[in-house]
Amino acid sequence: MPKPQRTLLVTSALPYANGPIHLGHLVEYIQTDIWVRFQRLRGNHCTYVCADDAHGTPIMLRAEQDGVAPQALIDRVGTEHRNDFADFLIAFDNYYTTHSDENRHYATLIYQRLKNAGHISARTITQAYDPEKEMFLPDRFVKGDCPRCGSPDQYGDSCEVCGATYGPTDLGNPRSVITGATPVERESLHYFFNLADFEPMLREWINSGSIQQQMAHKLAEWFDSGLQQWDISRDAPYWGFEIPDAPGKYFYVWLDAPIGYMASFRNWADRHGADFDHYWRPDSPTELHHFIGKDIAYFHTLFWPAILEGAGFRKPTGVYCHGFLTVDGQKMSKSRGTFIMARSYLDHLRPEYLRYYFAAKLGSGIDDIDLNLEDFRQRVNSDLVGKVVNIASRCAGFIHKQFDGQLAGALPEPELYRGFVSAGENIAQAYEGREYARAMRDIMQLADQANQYIDEAKPWLLIKDPEHTAEVQGVCTQGLNLYRVLITYLAPVLPTVASDSAQFLGLDGLHWADIGQPLISHGIETFKPLMQRVDEHAIQAMVADSKQNLSPTAQPSTQTPAPEQRVEEQPIAEQIDFEVFARVDLRVARISRAEPVEGADKLLRLSLDLGGEKRTVFAGIKAAYDPADLEGRLTVVVANLAPRKMRFGVSDGMVLAAGPGGADIFLLSPDTGAEPGMKIK
Ligand code: 2FM
Ligand code: ZN
Repeated sequence: MPKPQRTLLVTSALPYANGPIHLGHLVEYIQTDIWVRFQRLRGNHCTYVCADDAHGTPIMLRAEQDGVAPQALIDRVGTEHRNDFADFLIAFDNYYTTHSDENRHYATLIYQRLKNAGHISARTITQAYDPEKEMFLPDRFVKGDCPRCGSPDQYGDSCEVCGATYGPTDLGNPRSVITGATPVERESLHYFFNLADFEPMLREWINSGSIQQQMAHKLAEWFDSGLQQWDISRDAPYWGFEIPDAPGKYFYVWLDAPIGYMASFRNWADRHGADFDHYWRPDSPTELHHFIGKDIAYFHTLFWPAILEGAGFRKPTGVYCHGFLTVDGQKMSKSRGTFIMARSYLDHLRPEYLRYYFAAKLGSGIDDIDLNLEDFRQRVNSDLVGKVVNIASRCAGFIHKQFDGQLAGALPEPELYRGFVSAGENIAQAYEGREYARAMRDIMQLADQANQYIDEAKPWLLIKDPEHTAEVQGVCTQGLNLYRVLITYLAPVLPTVASDSAQFLGLDGLHWADIGQPLISHGIETFKPLMQRVDEHAIQAMVADSKQNLSPTAQPSTQTPAPEQRVEEQPIAEQIDFEVFARVDLRVARISRAEPVEGADKLLRLSLDLGGEKRTVFAGIKAAYDPADLEGRLTVVVANLAPRKMRFGVSDGMVLAAGPGGADIFLLSPDTGAEPGMKIK
């Protein structure tokens, strides 16, 4: 009997709308996407929603710094995030924003229900206030000397040197990060959510199997230290939703962020005729699964279930934390070039390499995972190219050339095939339990068996003897059937290889339930190479790009010890010395030719004349300029930038441009009178 279909709603955490997606973020989206694709492959009904987390002080200040309205900033970043996720093959059903009508509706509804039920209290508190900027300062916007060890330049919540945690008023020589002014203390009325009202329910819920054991232990510590009231309001000026009955007060970004899961789903449900209440009522028969980083567990395993319960909604079926990403054994670092943006990766490497590598490393726990760049190259080349894809390429040619694309009428080794199919149950269990590393190990062991079978059968020798021709068809039919099972198992991890494989196998798709029946007397299409090896130079070029793209907006996710104090990312630019700046050789160049680059959405190939010297440079300005308009124009070029090997060729220098991005990029052109080759001082 087929198992009854499950209905699942799955989410990943909502990234902040003030910075680009980097490989650290991608651990989570890839982990979730693999799980979602696995559920769908098994025939379950699975909806995957996400959104940008678009509110809060850093986004407000960042927009101000850029001279744009917050809406313009979040629209721009939202587009970049969508493109990055799409190119990493993350299959959201809906990617929305927390600054939406739906989210305002649910945030207000939930607040009112909590208030009516007596779970909200108001009281006056004292906070740091910037008298110049005329705003209250979040803890991380105050810096000063650590009250414990005296180290200078520490944030207002914790010391990065000695690990002490404290409040901003405890700092010595405090100053506002925004204006440098000395903060003053000021009183204000705030609204609090009474988390402790939900302690009995939370104690039961955390032991119901909804969260990992390790996290349940962590939560027990939080219970022991007492559940504190949670401050859910902020004073104007603030970028968010105003609290309906409290003018000048806004919902704290962390209140409406998880409600954004509901709002994104509501937006999708309205467009797809789905019943919102069916998913969110307390006795819903559907499942709700959240994937998050371990640093935001407090919000998702205490506040969120309590808020849902208090407002009359269902609680999550599961909340799954993952660890952080290190690169080459260390925290991601801009100066080492290991703080890699999603886009820098995509400029050089195929998304499925990273999806596979992360899968091969991910277990169900909260341990950090390491991207070792050399291991990454070797693992992908040996497993995916050397073992898996190789099976198809070894067999497909014979079927085409010798047998007119027709598979044999029977498998020579049906037992071997059955063994592959029955291994599927363990692999499915591993996927379901987020033990992807185990699933990948099992799949690679099967791939070894398939290669061993072909090695022993030696179709390349058999084909030389006409008496054995029919045997070759059998061996290759066996090999391609084993390949089909393997690529079905790998489909959640390698969506493009899977769909290309389905096409060449003459199938309209891959489904877990179909593999019980082998493909016999079946026609296949022409084989096209499914995956190339990872090129060492591509990795080097990605690292070189990451050293160069030292973007002020790209901040590492902060790992803070006290979750209530976790704040949004910081809008602080990285500084360079004058000596470093003076080493940049800026020259005038004439654009002699500008042309689009095949396969690159954003790039133009520019041929430059630097006063006799010719250069080729790739520039991401296609959305802003028609190539024909650029030819003959002067621009400024960084002439001493080390050449970078990109997927499309070598870029020998960089043209300077400015603007918010997309169609609004302006190439810097020198005044008239400048000559190509002239040095800019
Ligand atoms: O930590 C973060 O990056 C938050 N933007 C995550 C929010 S997840 C959910 F609550 F919305
Ligand atoms: Zn200290």
